[in-house]
Amino acid sequence: MPVHNENIIIINCGSQFTQLIARRLREMKVHSVIVNWDISCVEVKKYSPAGIIISGGPDSVNDEDAITIDPEILNTGCPVLGICYGMQLLAKLSGGRVNSGHVHEYGITKILRTGDSELLKDIPESINVLMSHGDSVSELPGGFCATSRTAGGLTASIEDGGRKFYGLQFHPEVIHTEHGQEILRRFAFGICGCSGDWDLAGWVEGIIEDIRRTVGNGRVVCGLSGGVDSSVAAALVNRAIGDRLTCVFVNHGLMRLNEPEQVMRSYQDMGLNVIYADASEKFLRELEGVTDPEQKRKIIGRLFIEVFDEEAKKIDGAEWLLQGTIYPDVIESGNKKGAAVIKSHHNVGGLPEHMKMKLLEPLRDLFKDEVRRLGGIIGVPEAIVSRQPFPGPGLAVRCLGAITKGRLDVLRQADAIFTEELKRAGLYAGIWQSFCVLLPVRTVGVMGDSRTYSEAVVLRAVHSQDAMTAEWARIDYGVLDAVSKRICNEVRGVNRVVLDVTSKPPATIEWE
Ligand code: XMP
Repeated sequence: MPVHNENIIIINCGSQFTQLIARRLREMKVHSVIVNWDISCVEVKKYSPAGIIISGGPDSVNDEDAITIDPEILNTGCPVLGICYGMQLLAKLSGGRVNSGHVHEYGITKILRTGDSELLKDIPESINVLMSHGDSVSELPGGFCATSRTAGGLTASIEDGGRKFYGLQFHPEVIHTEHGQEILRRFAFGICGCSGDWDLAGWVEGIIEDIRRTVGNGRVVCGLSGGVDSSVAAALVNRAIGDRLTCVFVNHGLMRLNEPEQVMRSYQDMGLNVIYADASEKFLRELEGVTDPEQKRKIIGRLFIEVFDEEAKKIDGAEWLLQGTIYPDVIESGNKKGAAVIKSHHNVGGLPEHMKMKLLEPLRDLFKDEVRRLGGIIGVPEAIVSRQPFPGPGLAVRCLGAITKGRLDVLRQADAIFTEELKRAGLYAGIWQSFCVLLPVRTVGVMGDSRTYSEAVVLRAVHSQDAMTAEWARIDYGVLDAVSKRICNEVRGVNRVVLDVTSKPPATIEWE
């Protein structure tokens, strides 16, 4: 990350919310850098931080091997905000005491102000906050005072106005905490003196410089899937190093109607250097007749790597592999300390050992909506930026039962009709994912004077924020009727259309 004029350093002690703190700061146009808890004070100073935030974490500060920070960091003169574990660490390192595990507070709790506070000064006396801790500060360090308590009498916030040290036992970064954003704003603007001069467009310039510095004269290869993340990552790196980036687009024969051609056209319009590897016959040959979902995924994953590897080998001197990893992927993959994270879901697949490539992941700090906005800023076509998520194994996990070229074609046609009608009704853009599933179930129907015995198609459409949970989309009956009629009339091999009215949980978004 390049050094900015206004930086807030976030020291990550392992909380699942750390990236959310960074996101909240970005929303108020304050630049932040997330660093690991073991960073030295010397390294911290190199960022010339306006302020330091110590994140929450799963440890107890009283554990023998608990994570701790370089205590010198507290002597830099910078304002410090400790959140949850960060507050306990701040208290302990400043000479206070922390009690372990007497009272556990998880969930929404009301807190009450108990004294004057620089940090909470414009916040109501009593607010609901998200707590998630088993430890609490039992003895304040010298110079500190408690500024709020929970109904159970535990210390909810502390501060030492003289040194500008602040601690919050709750999480201001999550939306469940009332006035959380205002508290962070007060810290960044009122206490650290930031002015909010940073934005995503500015970040582009910084990250491009950073990519140039990292890659040097090297060559980069990237597996493009047609999806938002890999496309935006490629567009960004293309801006940084031009045609020293080579992309490989593998057509596995499991994409939607006309999708490979459309995607390739968009990439060419974007000026990307793309190798088109049509491996659809190879994939279909190996998938022919396979019914088990996990086996499908394994075959697709293995073949993808084989084809990608074959193509990448032809690119002389490529030592970097670009991945469109975004922050939710990092969480999903466990965010292990120091470990390179490969997308756990198949898209670019796992890295074959012998390739020994270095990973380039310029989007790994961003959330999906930020990646979409970034794509818009750097000129990625709207069709890609607003594309619905599409699983790496493609239609294979939507074609239930045995995979055959014929059944995939039936699914492709039905799916295209559903998409077309949703777009016609102006509903498509407001839906997280919408698609058809082909069932290996034949039912009796009647067409004209004849009896039919054909397969059924499911319409699946969901609203979601992050795919972790999803709500089935209530689509107008008129639109559903048009879709059903068109599919039965236009797609040979389907005589029944049904609607999936299950949310996630208990169902998943995909059927396999
Ligand atoms: P589920 O079906 O688990 O899906 O609710 C959650 C999100 O993940 C996508 N998905 C996949 N993406 N490889 C992928 O790249 C896969 O194997 C895979 N399975 C599900 C799904 O489309 C949804 O967006």
